[in-house]
Amino acid sequence: MIAQVERLLKQLIGLEAESVGRLVIERAIRQRMQAQSVSVDADYWLHLERSKTEQQALVEAVVVPETWFFRYPESFVALVDLALKRKAALAGSRPLRVLSLPCSSGEEPYSIVMALLDAGFAPAAFQVEALDVSAKVVELARLGHYGRNSFRGQGLAFRERYFDATDNGFQLQSRVRERVKLRCGNLMDSHVLGGEAPFDFIFCRNLLIYFDRPTQHAVLDGLQRLLHADGTFFVGPAEASLLTQRGMHALGAPLTFAFRRELAAPALKAAPRVIAPAPIRPPRPAPAPRVLPARFAAPAAPLDEAASALGRIAQLADAGRSAEALQGCERYLLAHGPSAEAFYWMGLLNDMAGLDDVAQGYYRKALYLEPEHVESLVHLAALLGARGDHDGAKRLQQRANRASPSGVKRDER
Ligand SMILES: C[S@@+](CC[C@H](N)C(=O)[O-])C[C@H]1O[C@@H](n2cnc3c(N)ncnc32)[C@H](O)[C@@H]1O
Repeated sequence: MIAQVERLLKQLIGLEAESVGRLVIERAIRQRMQAQSVSVDADYWLHLERSKTEQQALVEAVVVPETWFFRYPESFVALVDLALKRKAALAGSRPLRVLSLPCSSGEEPYSIVMALLDAGFAPAAFQVEALDVSAKVVELARLGHYGRNSFRGQGLAFRERYFDATDNGFQLQSRVRERVKLRCGNLMDSHVLGGEAPFDFIFCRNLLIYFDRPTQHAVLDGLQRLLHADGTFFVGPAEASLLTQRGMHALGAPLTFAFRRELAAPALKAAPRVIAPAPIRPPRPAPAPRVLPARFAAPAAPLDEAASALGRIAQLADAGRSAEALQGCERYLLAHGPSAEAFYWMGLLNDMAGLDDVAQGYYRKALYLEPEHVESLVHLAALLGARGDHDGAKRLQQRANRASPSGVKRDER
C-alpha cells in the first residue's frame, strides 16, 4: 500500500516521498488508520481512494510546517530595499503585491508585513496574499497566536512592537494580521492563482525541495508567469540553484536567496546584516532540508551511506543545530574523504553565522573539487558582491548560469 499512497501524495500535493523519507509516510498512514479505527491496509486504501476528506487528513499528517518569524533575515532586508525602489517607480499607481506560498502558520507573510510597516510603508501601500495546502496551519495563521518556537534567537524587538503577551504565548496584533489575505490552496491546482494580477514579490520557500525535478520546474513555470517582469523571487537556500538553472539572476546579497529576471545594478548592493530600519536581530537562519542529488556519491563509501550522512547534516542544519551540523560535516570528511557537498554545507553554515572569510574558504574548497558546484558558485558570488567585488561576483554568477543552463541538463547528471 505504501507505494500506492506515495503515488497518490505525489499526485495530490507534488510530494516526492524520498524527500521526507518513507518513515514519515508510514507514520502518517498509521496515524490515519488509527484515527479511522481501520486495521487492514487494503480497507484503508479503499477509504482513502474514495474520500477527499481522508485525502486532506493524510496530507495534513504528512506535510512539514516548520517555519519561524524572520527566517533568513537578510531576505527581509532585501525585500524592504527592493520594495522602496518599486514603490518609487510605481509612484502610487497601485499597491505593491506580495505572495507567500506556502505560508504555513503565517510567520512568513506576517514577517513581510512587519518588515514593510517598519520601513514606513502605509498599510494600504501593499497587499500580501498567503496560501498553504494545510487547512490546519492556515487556521493557525488566522488565529495569529504563537508559541516560543516561532521566535528563534535573541533579537526579538519586533515581538515587543507587534505582539501582546498572553498566558501561553504571544498574540499578533490585528494591524499586522489584517494586512494578509489568507487562504487554503494547493500549488498543484492549476487554477489556484488563476485570475491573480502579477506579483512584485513572490516568496516560495522550502516547498520546492519536496518535489521532483519535473514538478519543481512545472511549478516554477506557473509562478514565473505570475511574477511581474521587474519582480523578485525568494526561495530557500536549498532551492537557489533551481532559479539559476532557469537563467534567473541572484540578487548578489548574501543569504537573501532572491532572484530576478534581469540583474538590476542597484540590487547588487549588499544588504546590511540587520533588518533596517527596525532594530531586529533575528537568529542566524538554518538551511532547509535538501533533496540530495546523485552527485553526492563519495569515493570510498556506498552511495546510500554517504547520502544519508549528508541528509542528516541537512536535517541538523534545518533544525537550527548548526554546531552539530558542522560536526557532522567534519565526521563526513573523515569517513568519506574530500567532498564538494560537505564543504558547501560548511560554507553555508559559516555564512549564516556571519563568518564570511571562513565561508569563502569552504565555498572555494567545494569549487576546487567540483568547479561547477552551482550552490557554491551562487553563494560565493553573493559574498563577493557584498564586499564590492562586483566583477568577481558577476564572473561566478555567469559560471553558475553556464554550469546549469537548463534544469533538464542538471537532472541528468
Ligand atoms: C517548511 S513549510 C515552509 C513555510 C515557509 N515558506 C518557510 O519557508 O518558512 C512547507 C509548507 O508547505 C506546505 N505545502 C506542501 N505542499 C503544498 C502544496 N502542494 N501547495 C501548497 N502548500 C504546500 C505545507 O503544508 C507546509 O506548511
